[in-house]
Amino acid sequence: MQTQIIDAKQTETAGTQWGGRLIREGQLVAFPTETVYGLGANGLDPEAVLRIFEAKGRPNDNPLILHVARKNDVKKLWDGVPTQILRLMDTFWPGPLTIVYRKTEQVPSEVSAGLDTVAVRMPAQKTALALIRAAERPIAAPSANLSGRPSPTTAQHVLMDMDGKIPLIIDGGPCRVGVESTVLSMTGVPTVLRPGAVTLSMLRSVLGEVRLDKSILSPLPENETPASPGMKHKHYAPNAQVVVVTGEARAVADKILQEYAKEEQRGKNCVIFAAEETQALYRGRSCVIIGSKSAPESMCANLFAQLRGVENDADVIFAEGIPAEEAGLAFMNRLLRAAGFCTIQA
Ligand code: TXA
Ligand code: MG
Repeated sequence: MQTQIIDAKQTETAGTQWGGRLIREGQLVAFPTETVYGLGANGLDPEAVLRIFEAKGRPNDNPLILHVARKNDVKKLWDGVPTQILRLMDTFWPGPLTIVYRKTEQVPSEVSAGLDTVAVRMPAQKTALALIRAAERPIAAPSANLSGRPSPTTAQHVLMDMDGKIPLIIDGGPCRVGVESTVLSMTGVPTVLRPGAVTLSMLRSVLGEVRLDKSILSPLPENETPASPGMKHKHYAPNAQVVVVTGEARAVADKILQEYAKEEQRGKNCVIFAAEETQALYRGRSCVIIGSKSAPESMCANLFAQLRGVENDADVIFAEGIPAEEAGLAFMNRLLRAAGFCTIQA
């Protein structure tokens, strides 16, 4: 299959009309959202949904998110919409918040991976909304990467993983947020299953009590069932070993320099993921700036692109840890998984 890339800006209507038609025909279309690129299919068609799992090599026990273009569309998908969910939708939609709630029979079990709940979100991205409207049905879409790889934040990243497997990629430029949406379960006490740009304190300001799932910053023991099936699978891993170094800034830099020298002596190519504030400490070493520690959103925005950017030249990536607070929680959640939880405390 020939994969075509179409520029969303130059062909706004053509791209979304074509994409909408492909979705209605049961095919796959990659499209931009404000978080990462999605790999979309008709969310109400089991066969189309199965094509997503096939193209990604995704384990079929990992459920998908349904994307809607109108808040009203959740009525067909969820078994009732409690006031607390309405308030979340009013506050954060369109935007990077995915809400998990009991599903209706209309939602195929292929989407929910056999669970009795379904995850839904309304993206804050013009092209994504236009595509969903053109498709005239909810679009099921995971991130458009091969399973286990860093999520794509540009159309080029999608092409790297999906070339020849899907007919169309809609190019909307780099994604603004850069990490996937916050996933919030609303079936019991509100619980964040995956942190994102909608932070814990933002959710607490609307809901009061909100819990954090325990697997967010640590690996799940082998014998436990995760609240979010996606958490147990290998994730975001580039073709290089990532090592996360945590602690006070100066001690982190010293430790990284020491480990860098050791690995270099063994003939390994190393790269350091530093912050604007600390880059000067690594002069003379191979180093990329991920963002500013004072604005963890900026570090989220660049993380996946930098993991893909250096993976072919580096054997080892040393990454500075940041406080796992606010947007820093989403950053550390993705970084620790990319590292397979390989960390050094400086
Ligand atoms: O930002 C995003 O959410 C992107 C863009 C494309 O919208 N999508 C995305 O999808 O990240 P995906 O499939 O890569 O991640 C969905 C996550 C997985 O961790 C999955 O386990 C969880 O949401 N999830 C989906 N449905 C669930 C459910 N019913 N219960 C618990 N977790 C669920
Ligand atoms: Mg994903």
